[in-house]
Amino acid sequence: DDSPTLEIDDPATLEALKDAADLLRQGKCVAFPTETVYGLGADATSTVGVNSIYTAKQRPSDNPLIVHVSSLRQLRGILAPTNPTSTTNGHATNTCGGEIPEVYNALISKFWPGPLTILLPLPTINSPLSASVTAGQPKFAARLPSHPIARALCYLSSLPLAAPSANASGNPSPTSASHVLTDLWNRIPLIIDGGPCSVGLESTVVDGLRDPPVVLRPGGISVEAIRELGGIWARTIISKASLEDAADPSITPEAPGMKYKHYSPRASVVLYEFGTPPLCGKDLVRSPILSAKNLNGKVGILRTRTWEDGIGELTLGRLKYESNNGGEEIGRRLFAALRELDDEGVDVIHVEGIEEVLEGLAVMNRLRKAASVVVRKVE
Ligand code: TXA
Ligand code: MG
Repeated sequence: DDSPTLEIDDPATLEALKDAADLLRQGKCVAFPTETVYGLGADATSTVGVNSIYTAKQRPSDNPLIVHVSSLRQLRGILAPTNPTSTTNGHATNTCGGEIPEVYNALISKFWPGPLTILLPLPTINSPLSASVTAGQPKFAARLPSHPIARALCYLSSLPLAAPSANASGNPSPTSASHVLTDLWNRIPLIIDGGPCSVGLESTVVDGLRDPPVVLRPGGISVEAIRELGGIWARTIISKASLEDAADPSITPEAPGMKYKHYSPRASVVLYEFGTPPLCGKDLVRSPILSAKNLNGKVGILRTRTWEDGIGELTLGRLKYESNNGGEEIGRRLFAALRELDDEGVDVIHVEGIEEVLEGLAVMNRLRKAASVVVRKVE
């Protein structure tokens, strides 16, 4: 997948994408679909463009952004910036030598294009990326998405696109154009509607420049699939921070302003570890862990495998765990389901946890960061 390609042949779609590419070249941001979640993209080489993303999302500017490209060739253009001043000084060569580090070969040929993000050395000289993209980090994050619209935008604009998820900071990531509209209405000039996202959870972020390699964020590619590549990848570890709860590691009532709260609906989330029954069964509403507000509030249930029907007032059956299509289906539906329960006016959502294997690791990572309370089994 070396040279840029354009996979869009419908003339009307192509015209719309050309308009979007014009906006991007003017330093504006545009929301677009990827296979994982909707992204809010801007020219990664323009500080004005990148800063417009942070402003629209109200995202803290110390959280770095992923750079999206349409081809390996476009990525090499970032790693080997062509500027004559870098060749006049005999010592001044970029530490990365302009090539994608070999350690990534197996990963790239197996999972790109797709829901995988890799960390790369930032060129030490004449980096074309705006410093706002990396927010002071020594490496930058890159992804070659599989969604034809995402790739077409990079191709038509001839720009690498910095793009975080297109939600308001802290909310569940958007998996449809209407989610973007809800969060960023009036804050961005254009949303491209490509229908619902097929993966539904963000990409897996991997740092292969460390030994052992580290998964910084579990996502659309499972850690098991990465380890199966063998070699250095067989030893891949998962960063501890990605396994932490937003809530206290015990059954404690919600405290406002939790440090790591992300992906959160308006309602409070009570997450039950895999195999933990819902507290108080049919009297869930009177669960002792809930605050006064939630005691009298409307309850939503996200039930996946073993919890019975009808344990709460509102059950989203669509998250029901199907044995042959389990974690994947839950991952695809998770963020939309949290938003749908908010639309129902639910005050508290009780979520049945799943096993932290395959897609379940990313699902539980997002839920831990959304949860106000995590209910664990007493050993
Ligand atoms: O699937 C995805 O990755 C989506 C779509 C739009 O591509 N994007 C996305 O971006 O989820 P965002 O900004 O919501 O999450 C980016 C993640 C964050 O956890 C961030 O800390 C990490 O990647 N990241 C980005 N650049 C990094 C860097 N230079 N060093 C370490 N971590 C980085
Ligand atoms: Mg995000």
